[in-house]
Amino acid sequence: MTVKSALEDLQDEENVDTGEEMELSVLSDEQSPEIRRFRAEVIQGLSQPHKALPCKYFYDERGSQLFDRICELDEYYLTRTEIEIMRAHVGEMAERIGSGSILIEYGSGSSMKTRYLLDHLHELRAYVPIDISREHLYRSVERLEAAYPGLPIRPVCADYTSDLLLPIPKDHPSRRVVYFPGSTLGNFEPGEALRFLQRVARVCGEGGGLLIGVDLEKDESVLEPAYNDREGVTAAFNLNLLHRMNRELGADFDVEGFRHRAIYNRPEGRIEMHLQSLQKQSVRIGNVTIQFAEGERLCTEYSYKYTPVRFAQLADEAGFAVEQVWTDPRRWFSVQLLHRTSK
Ligand code: AVI
Repeated sequence: MTVKSALEDLQDEENVDTGEEMELSVLSDEQSPEIRRFRAEVIQGLSQPHKALPCKYFYDERGSQLFDRICELDEYYLTRTEIEIMRAHVGEMAERIGSGSILIEYGSGSSMKTRYLLDHLHELRAYVPIDISREHLYRSVERLEAAYPGLPIRPVCADYTSDLLLPIPKDHPSRRVVYFPGSTLGNFEPGEALRFLQRVARVCGEGGGLLIGVDLEKDESVLEPAYNDREGVTAAFNLNLLHRMNRELGADFDVEGFRHRAIYNRPEGRIEMHLQSLQKQSVRIGNVTIQFAEGERLCTEYSYKYTPVRFAQLADEAGFAVEQVWTDPRRWFSVQLLHRTSK
C-alpha cells in the first residue's frame, strides 16, 4: 500500500484492512478523534522527504512527567531563570499591568509561575486559565480556589492555538492581559508564532497586554547541554514519542534503533531535536510502512531563541509593542510586557 492511499484511507475508516489482531485494536482506538488525528499527523509527517513530527505529541502522561524533570535539571536553565526573573520583578510587573485587570493564561498547567502574579496583581477581576489537559486544569483550579478565596477563576479546557470562546462578556470593561510563560512561543515556527500572536492580540482587544516568557539567543556551550543533559532525561523525553506511537497507534518502532540528538542551528536561531535512525530499518504504523535510511533524522522539535530586537519585530508585526523587558543578570532569558497597538 502506498503512503498516499494510506492517507486517503485515514479519511475513510471503512477502507482500512481489518485482517490482523493489531489492526483491530488500532481500529477500535480510532473511534477517538484524537487518535485519528494523531495517526494522520504522524503518517503525514513521516511521509515527507524530511521526516518531522509535531512536538505537541511529546506530552502524554509519561512525557509530561519527563518534562517536569527536565525543568529541574542543572543544564536546563530556562525554568529556573524565568522564576528568578518573576521573583525579582513581579512587583513592577503588577504595577505596569495595572489594577482591575483580567488575567488569561495560555497553557496554564499547574499555574506555578502564575502564583507570583496572583499574589501581586491589584484588584484582579478574574483569572482565566486555559489548558488542553482537563485533569491538570481542574486539579490546579481546586488548589487555586483554596489559596485565593474570592478570586473568580473561570477555567477553559481548550487548545489555545485555535480560536477560543472566553467566559468573559465581550464588552467587559476590564483590561485583558494574557500570560504566556515558559518560552513555549519558541516551539512555534516563525509563521505560526506570528499567527499565534495575532490571535492573542485579538483576544486581548483594545488596550490589552501580553506578558510572555522568551528565551534569548546565547552561546552553544549553554544551549546545547540544556537539550543534551548528562542524565539523559531529554533523550528519554524525545524517545518517548516512539513509545507513544507504539502504544497508541500500534506502531512497531524499535526504540533502541534510534538515538536522541539536539543541535543549535545558529543561522536559524533554533535548537533542533531529532531522533536519528541507527540503521536502515522499516517501521509499520497500522497498514502503512515507513522506511528509514541509516543515519536518517526525524525532526521532533524546534526551540527558537530570540534576540530582543528580533522578538520586538515579531511583536510589532503581530500588533504589539514591547513596553518592558525584564532579564536575569546573564541575559539568558526574558519576561516581556507588550501592549496592543492600534494597527
Ligand atoms: C516547552 N518548551 C518551551 C521546551 C523548550 O525548551 O523548547 C520543550 C523542551 N524540549 C526539550 N526540552 C524542553
